[in-house]
Amino acid sequence: NTNILPTKCTVLLTGATGYIGSHTWLALQAAGYRVVGIDNFSNSSPQVLARLKRLSTQPIVFEQADICDTHSLEGIFSRHQPQAVIHFAAFKAVGESTQRPLEYYTNNLGGLLTVCRTMRRHKCKRFVFSSSATVYGIPKKLPITEDASLSATNPYGQTKLMGEQILKDLGASDPQWQTACLRYFNPVGAHESGDIGEDPRDTPNNLMPYVAQVAIGRRPFLQIFGNDYPTPDGTGVRDYIHVTDLAEGHVAALDRLLENDESLTVNLGTGQGYSVLEVVGAYEDACGHTIPFKIAARRPGDVAACYADPAFAHKILGWSARHDLNRMCTDSWRWQSKNPNGYE
Ligand code: NAD
Ligand code: WQD
Repeated sequence: NTNILPTKCTVLLTGATGYIGSHTWLALQAAGYRVVGIDNFSNSSPQVLARLKRLSTQPIVFEQADICDTHSLEGIFSRHQPQAVIHFAAFKAVGESTQRPLEYYTNNLGGLLTVCRTMRRHKCKRFVFSSSATVYGIPKKLPITEDASLSATNPYGQTKLMGEQILKDLGASDPQWQTACLRYFNPVGAHESGDIGEDPRDTPNNLMPYVAQVAIGRRPFLQIFGNDYPTPDGTGVRDYIHVTDLAEGHVAALDRLLENDESLTVNLGTGQGYSVLEVVGAYEDACGHTIPFKIAARRPGDVAACYADPAFAHKILGWSARHDLNRMCTDSWRWQSKNPNGYE
């Protein structure tokens, strides 16, 4: 099916120059989609575009715009007439969201509403939403299935929960809306070229980019947030998923939305949990030297373990993650060592 439909379809990516957006851009083009990217560079670099041009055989069509700006979006929809939107653009730092809730609600929910209202005006009603495993709050049962109870422990998580609710209400109000809420677990790694990857602006909040910066010598040591969790080695366990697998998951979800009149909510994870110490060990193998670390206090809000049941994604999308933890680390390291200071 992917041979017939997608070549004729234009998909708009918001947050397209970000970490996941940039990888998904390439995956969509490889699958035959025409892509229009938009971003305001609030958390990404314009350099991403030059890299994408290098990696792609197709034109890179990009519009610099803020998703909260109705007027800009109106122009972009008129010019490009997308048939679907994949909506990545959002602020994503959990800690920062507790300090700046208004900015998070404005950008993440105001942005979502502006995009959806523009879509409605242009009769574009296929929408893929970047949700997060954070909507499961403190998981009661592992692995986590999509029907688990939902809760949020911080404003960032609230924006994802509310975003999902908005899309559910929209679908109920008008059956022409087909939406996919993709609940990502922990995206890591980089494109195999080492030319695009994750480039945090400030101190990395997440484990793998922090480890990468220690490995390259930008930071002296990793702090491991707690080694007294009820997990096999005491450190937190997460479901790390290679970003190119995640990108493929978006292609599969979009294919499905365009072929079936049905909305969906799907976990995108591997189903396999790894501890912080296991990640450090795999990264040491990838970079060839030890990663210094110190055990520190638990980070407030962290759970002991979180990993997906990926069975529904496999069933409904025919998709499952292919890359293992070693590959996630070698690809992260290739990106980090080729670009010691990221894009700048
Ligand atoms: P990212 O910050 O690298 O990418 C987001 C992009 O959106 C950035 O390029 C940023 O400049 C852009 N953006 C933000 N606000 C904008 C606005 N108002 N107008 C235009 N562009 C705007 O983040 P990412 O890791 O690629 O995450 C993408 C999406 O996936 C986000 O919605 C995030 O919440 C969600 N998500 C991420 C993770 C993760 O761990 N990376 C996990 C679960 C869900
Ligand atoms: C992973 C493990 C830490 C950093 C976050 C968001 C979630 C989602 C993905 C967007 C934990 C430990 C980390 C460090 C450490 N994002 N750690 N030292 O917390 O599972 O999820 O990103 O939707 O919403 O909460 O990911 O990478 O921050 O942490 O020991 O310097 O690594 O305690 O056990 P997390 P993470």
